Amino acid sequence: MSAPTQRAETDLTRAGETGVDLSDPRLTRFDLVREGARRNGIEIVLYEPRFPVPGSRVERRLERVVALLFLIAGAAGLGFVIAYIWWPWEYEFGPDSLSKFYTPVLGVTLGVSLFAVALALVAWVKKLLPHEIAIEERHDGASSDDDRQLMEATLANAGQESGVSRRPLLKGALALGLAPVGLAVAAPLIGGLIRDPHRPMYDEVGVSRQFHTGFHPGLNGGRPVRLVREDGTPIRPEDVSVSGQITVFPGIPGGTTNEFADSPTLLIHLRQADADELRENLYELNQGSMLGNFVAYSKVCTHAGCPPSLYEQQTNRLLCPCHQSQFLITDNARPVFGPATRSLAMLPLDVDEEGYFVAASDYKVPVGPSFWER
Ligand code: FES
Repeated sequence: MSAPTQRAETDLTRAGETGVDLSDPRLTRFDLVREGARRNGIEIVLYEPRFPVPGSRVERRLERVVALLFLIAGAAGLGFVIAYIWWPWEYEFGPDSLSKFYTPVLGVTLGVSLFAVALALVAWVKKLLPHEIAIEERHDGASSDDDRQLMEATLANAGQESGVSRRPLLKGALALGLAPVGLAVAAPLIGGLIRDPHRPMYDEVGVSRQFHTGFHPGLNGGRPVRLVREDGTPIRPEDVSVSGQITVFPGIPGGTTNEFADSPTLLIHLRQADADELRENLYELNQGSMLGNFVAYSKVCTHAGCPPSLYEQQTNRLLCPCHQSQFLITDNARPVFGPATRSLAMLPLDVDEEGYFVAASDYKVPVGPSFWER
């Protein structure tokens, strides 16, 4: 009995009704497959190859299409790995910056890679594997030794019928295509373990942009950095009225741009009673950071980085518009509502010899949302 042209009403099916002797040497592997299916409550009612004559032009053409899809998947997967390792991912300012394409390049290459693998598998199954119709009945219970033997035969048959062994082109394309895809999947997992988050990267003046903002004196030749408006003009205490607030930036080159996107700060002139209340509540970390009745809080939400700059004067709260976190100004900007769990960082204030606001130092804790182990 030849496997490729079986139909339900063949002798094998009839033999299965009374049980098949598995030690019968005349049984082909497909006989065992069918018997195994039958014992598992699966009746193979149709089983025929797509190409009765192996190696036809149509079959070879389909093989080439599937192989091409695997190779595309491999090339895209390799592109992902290369981009993941070598594409400039650190933020670079300016129109020619390549770093802004880092995430899109990763997304496109991984997407193309996985999509091509899926297309190749679908094409392989739909166009090259034998056409089969099987009807299965569900049952409970563990597998017997016989069942395991039959399953082995079934899997071996599936492997042979998939045509990998007699289609070297597909075998090669499969290896070439799937290896980089596997690497692409593994790269983010492994890459995340390689970089030590406790070993910050330093820029050319020795300031870690991960842990410091534009108010770090190292970015100003070691001198305290002035607080400036968006137009770069410095601010004196008398410029901010009582209960008034103003968004300030580091007075360094590029300080008001996205190059220092973690630096915007809310400078608030508290009413006397509120300033007194805050002074009483100051965390040890924030001691000495107020200047008179002035306080400055980071404008980067500790939840997800939005600007919590809606200043509610009556309740002394800063509201974040993204997820409605609220921070109590008179208590170290402690979160009192919403998903944020950490206080807004407080910027130590001072004035320079010309009477303009400066940051006495950088923020004492990294601003914004939590990251590794924070
Ligand atoms: Fe502020 Fe979510 S980013 S509450």
